[in-house]
Amino acid sequence: MHASRYSLPGILFHWTMALAVLLAWGGMQLAEALGRGPAKTMVVGTHALLGLIVLALLLPRILARLLGTSPGPAPGAPVWEQRLALAAHLLLYALMLLLPVSGILVALTGRVPFDLAGLATLPNSLAGTGLRRTVKEIHELLANLMLATIVLHVAAVLWHAFVRRDGVAARMSPLRGDQASASARRGVTGTSR
Ligand code: HEM
Repeated sequence: MHASRYSLPGILFHWTMALAVLLAWGGMQLAEALGRGPAKTMVVGTHALLGLIVLALLLPRILARLLGTSPGPAPGAPVWEQRLALAAHLLLYALMLLLPVSGILVALTGRVPFDLAGLATLPNSLAGTGLRRTVKEIHELLANLMLATIVLHVAAVLWHAFVRRDGVAARMSPLRGDQASASARRGVTGTSR
């Protein structure tokens, strides 16, 4: 069913998961700057926890998306643009699954059991497979692909907000509905969904 903006659960899942992905990515940038030691182990473990949160929220998010209300394609957008947006969104969903799963494989192939920030330990049960390097490269590749897709996604949102001014950016805004739709109305004149 089409609506003027995403449902509240949809908006909450979007921003919680966006924050978790960015913190997980940022954590690894920090970890790479740290020398081997307890601080690095804690940062990498926290990074993995954030990734596991993304994985745990994915199914509820997809269900909320499929069962709840959501707006249709951007008003007046050409077909190629609608297809690109759909492809980018599907790629983001796929990466929210594949990136954490590949991270789990990196942890399972480690030389020692993996410390999840002191909360739990993942066994290194796949250590003997010799796949550590390969899965680590896959995890890094998927993380870079996720980052590139997020950059494209944010660029598209800014394009809608400041060039098209069609109210599309406000549809995922955490602001209350009336404020968001007021800003959407300011941007849209005479469009229909
Ligand atoms: C949103 C999810 C995630 C993002 C964005 C992400 C991102 C990254 C990035 C950018 C790196 C550095 C890759 C490199 O340059 O070598 C990395 C490494 C790693 N990630 Fe993730 N990751 C995610 C989820 C996970 C999960 C769920 C786990 C495990 C449960 C995990 C475990 C690891 C491990 C063990 C490393 C290697 C750390 C080291 O070098 O010792 N990641 N991740």
